[in-house]
Amino acid sequence: MNEKIIILDFGSQTTQLIARRIRELNTYCEILPYNKFPFDDTTVKGVILSGSPYSVYDENAFKTDLSRMRNKYPLLGICYGAQLLAHSSGGTVESAGSREYGRANLTKIDTENPLFKNITEGSQVWMSHGDSITRLPESFRVIASTQSVEAAAFAINREQTWGVQFHPEVYHTEEGSKILDNFLNICGCTKDWTPASFIESTVAELKQKLGNDKVILALSGGVDSSVTAVLLNRAIGKNLTCIFVDHGLLRKNEFQKVMKDYEVLGLNVLGINASERFYRELEGVTDPEKKRKIIGKGFIDVFDEEAHKLQNIKWLGQGTIYPDVIESLSITGTVIKSHHNVGGLPDKMNLKLVEPLRLLFKDEVRRVGTELGMPAHLIKRHPFPGPGLGIRILGDVTSEKVRVLQEADDIYISALHEWKLYDKVWQAGTILLPIRSVGVMGDERTYENTVVLRAVTSTDAMTADWAQLPYEFLAKISNEIINKVKGVNRVVYDISSKPPSTIEWE
Ligand code: XMP
Repeated sequence: MNEKIIILDFGSQTTQLIARRIRELNTYCEILPYNKFPFDDTTVKGVILSGSPYSVYDENAFKTDLSRMRNKYPLLGICYGAQLLAHSSGGTVESAGSREYGRANLTKIDTENPLFKNITEGSQVWMSHGDSITRLPESFRVIASTQSVEAAAFAINREQTWGVQFHPEVYHTEEGSKILDNFLNICGCTKDWTPASFIESTVAELKQKLGNDKVILALSGGVDSSVTAVLLNRAIGKNLTCIFVDHGLLRKNEFQKVMKDYEVLGLNVLGINASERFYRELEGVTDPEKKRKIIGKGFIDVFDEEAHKLQNIKWLGQGTIYPDVIESLSITGTVIKSHHNVGGLPDKMNLKLVEPLRLLFKDEVRRVGTELGMPAHLIKRHPFPGPGLGIRILGDVTSEKVRVLQEADDIYISALHEWKLYDKVWQAGTILLPIRSVGVMGDERTYENTVVLRAVTSTDAMTADWAQLPYEFLAKISNEIINKVKGVNRVVYDISSKPPSTIEWE
């Protein structure tokens, strides 16, 4: 990476969004805790200070010495970041001043100022601040106002430092991306960070880092681990061994289909069928968390056994992505939770970790995968939980229940593809309930299980809405499942959103 923007995080909920917008402008950026500025990094081209839940007057407010950055890099303070700039230079920030939440319009814009080049008078911005800068320090000057806030944006004389009290990263700020783009121009960014350039530089870095070392990687069939594998394969070829464990809780024929995909991609993959072992260990277990633990541990054990059969392995590859990394870092830089399904592996196996996607967002991972020539069905695959159907069969898990659910799930997912609905939802699947109800088929009374259809829309799985699939579609699926899947006589559709429900049932 030969140039980057640093976003110092003061704890705002929109810090990640700033990073998204900068990346959309083909510029690489990193989020770092507010007190962890990399002064010795020569690739930094500019700095953005994020917002914060704190007021600059709060005792616990996050503060950092800005004087070492000012004049050295172009600097843009957003909301709290702007207030911190003003406050630390002797300006006045007051909570009793004008609070502003929601939409506002910029007036008196100084379009001569490079930050506001081509920004239109009256442009809508998104405000969200309880405090307000009521008096600017000497050398600061206002470059835009709103109806209720005089210093909506300021510049510092003879410095490349700016502050905006609104949020350019938020969608409702109509020309927010343009303002950030202007800032990148000020920083002299070349804006050539694309999936292709990411692949080129990452493959070169991996080659250098790994040399002739051997790496193992657990594949799940999902996007992140698959893209990680293809990237590593491009860098070190046969020194990468992938292990794909079939725990017997995958979708119908998923193991065979995905193995075929991996073969076409030229990956060196060991496919391990461990279904019987998992069914045995899950026998009679009904508690969701216990089931998760058994499946997680079983997975690690199988992986460990297979890895031990290989010689001289030094590294463990993982498909960790940026949201996992950000969520794992508290603002002081300490790890508060570890995220991965294979989280216990590196310690147990005494291996070094290599995570080539750890700085990418999900959509960037998909674009990198496409650029690497991976097939669309692998890239667009819905998220699927590590414990698989094990947490979609409520109560105890048996191979027969897995078979029933796989059949129902296959009908549902195939039809979503046929009806061109698959790409419109974030995730879909079926759940097998442990209760039976009465039905009638021909002249016969039935007493069989219920299958739930679940489909949600979402952008990050943190929140989700139930998907409003067409009635005709649901009717067809219900009919087909009840007619074709022995053991099911009732189909229901889950109309719960998250929160307060979750996407999975267990
Ligand atoms: P929930 O059910 O918490 O799910 O709304 C949010 C997202 O996480 C997935 N999920 C899991 N993924 N191991 C995983 O790898 C798990 O134990 C697990 N539980 C839930 C879920 O499919 C959804 O995408």
